[in-house]
Amino acid sequence: MCGIVGYVGPEAASPRLLDGLRRLEYRGYDSAGLAVHDGSGLHVARSVGRLAALEARLADSPLAGSVGVGHTRWATHGAPSEANAHPHLSPDGRIAVVHNGIIENYRELREELAAAGHRFQSETDTETLPHLIQREVADGAASGLDAIAAALRKARGAYALGILLAGEPEVVYAARLGSPLIVGVGEGETYIASDVPAIVNRVRKVIYLEDGQIARLTAAGVEVFDLDGRPAPFEVKDVTVSAESADRAGFETFMLKEIHEQPRILRDLLHQHVDADGRILLPDLHLDEATLKGLDHIFAVACGTAFHAAMYGKILIEHLTSLRVDIELASEFRYRRPKVDGRTLLLAVSQSGETADTLASVRMAHSRGCRVVSICNVHDSSLVRECDGVLYTQAGPEIGVASTKAYTTQLLSFVLLALHLARLRGDLEEPEIRRRLQALRAVPNAIHYVLERKDAIERIADKHHDGPSSLYLGRRFNVPTALEGALKNKEISYQHAEGYAAGEMKHGPIALIHEYLPVVCICTRTEDEVYDKMVSNLREVEARHGRIIALATDGDRAIAEVAEDVIFVPETLEEFSPLVNVVALQLLAYFAAKARGTDIDKPRNLAKSVTVE
Ligand code: F6R
Repeated sequence: MCGIVGYVGPEAASPRLLDGLRRLEYRGYDSAGLAVHDGSGLHVARSVGRLAALEARLADSPLAGSVGVGHTRWATHGAPSEANAHPHLSPDGRIAVVHNGIIENYRELREELAAAGHRFQSETDTETLPHLIQREVADGAASGLDAIAAALRKARGAYALGILLAGEPEVVYAARLGSPLIVGVGEGETYIASDVPAIVNRVRKVIYLEDGQIARLTAAGVEVFDLDGRPAPFEVKDVTVSAESADRAGFETFMLKEIHEQPRILRDLLHQHVDADGRILLPDLHLDEATLKGLDHIFAVACGTAFHAAMYGKILIEHLTSLRVDIELASEFRYRRPKVDGRTLLLAVSQSGETADTLASVRMAHSRGCRVVSICNVHDSSLVRECDGVLYTQAGPEIGVASTKAYTTQLLSFVLLALHLARLRGDLEEPEIRRRLQALRAVPNAIHYVLERKDAIERIADKHHDGPSSLYLGRRFNVPTALEGALKNKEISYQHAEGYAAGEMKHGPIALIHEYLPVVCICTRTEDEVYDKMVSNLREVEARHGRIIALATDGDRAIAEVAEDVIFVPETLEEFSPLVNVVALQLLAYFAAKARGTDIDKPRNLAKSVTVE
């Protein structure tokens, strides 16, 4: 979603702010702007479109000064336009605000301010904030901090804010409620940012602001206050993300780099949680043996790709244990009356840990007495902080908007959880668990092997990329893989794609099949009749002249006879085959998008982290 960067220090602010904003570009945006204090007052530059447009504007009219805030906006209230771009100013031009989130009561506030003579320049909810702060100053607030605190006490909703005051030329203010914001502490300089990668090349120490906190930054340091202006405690933490990991490491896109990171990351995750004796260690879940043994119901909630991981989790946990697992899209869960209570373990799955619907579901489940744990990638994210325990997916920063390594690490996390539960609850005999751990250890290599075949996958994508639509079919463990493959394709190549359980084909989607429709069939071997059923589905597609792209197990020549193209993948236990198969589909989508010339790391209309509904 939107990005925020702020800087106070000895250097020129504009280049620092632009550099930080560029590092947040992956979040998606449609306009950008900066405000800089030059010692005598505030100056603003804004433009629609990519950061390059803002840079061109700054090249013509530079903004001098070493204190500033910057923003990339993803439109919510008001179209993408220069007037709606941040920063927004107070009517007297003495207060500049950048904002992520939504001020829910902005209409009432705007009406109230308009009645008092305020005129607005934009359609945004954000603009009410500098107006409110100006009013507090005019009403005699004792200090800039008091004016900001008083204004924020009147705002409802969610915000991460960067604020400049003309009267305090050496200060940046930051505030947070429900939207992520960090403060970076460097040597003689300080930063704010909506996400660590924005400043990872500048600082190694950060403060994660809590909800309801205001920070006052100078070059010399940081003070933190609550919304009543009283000093609040804070902790300075080390940055765990390395600067290199925020770079592309020579790959043409972040997405391709992240696809290639999967074997290493999955191997590391496995090593971290399974010791040499085959014990599964998940200490951060904070779920003791008695709790896990006593469970009878898990409810998993998530959005998008993370929801597909939850689908897989349900199939796997129900396959390996005696537990019942329900899943639901977080955006639905939060507005229903799901049957959860103190005996339910709610599992929230999220890469970013900042997804608004997932967070709302967690709050709702907590209020019903559920124990809530997350499978999450981002350390210290809002989700992690609100849950009782966490299983970190340890995928490292995911910059490409389309999720890849976060997904496979979520799948592996579910595998670890399922095996742990099966062992503790006595649902599987020990040799059965050992057999699976053995098979799991082979998965990173199998993925590596798929990556080595990427040229062949690119040739197939090149051949099929130009149609208007495609269909993805899978069964059992690979139904989520079909959905995820289709999602990847539509997200980055903009080709319409449907993912379906293959058994459903006859109940509707078969009508779509014609001689130009690519049908991706996940047909890797299984130990039972599911494979034969999938082959029958393949024949049905063939009979209607659909163009079959099959995912098949190495050496399965029979599939090659039916399919127009085959992507061979190594044999893997069916339960774990989604980890391998999805990588082939990530590459297929990737090369289709490349052939279609899209902006792969920043697909249109998408944001990396959806912090508003
Ligand atoms: C798809 C994608 C999205 C996210 C979804 C949830 O490639 O990235 O569908 O999976 O927005 O985001 P998180 O996992 O951050 O909660």
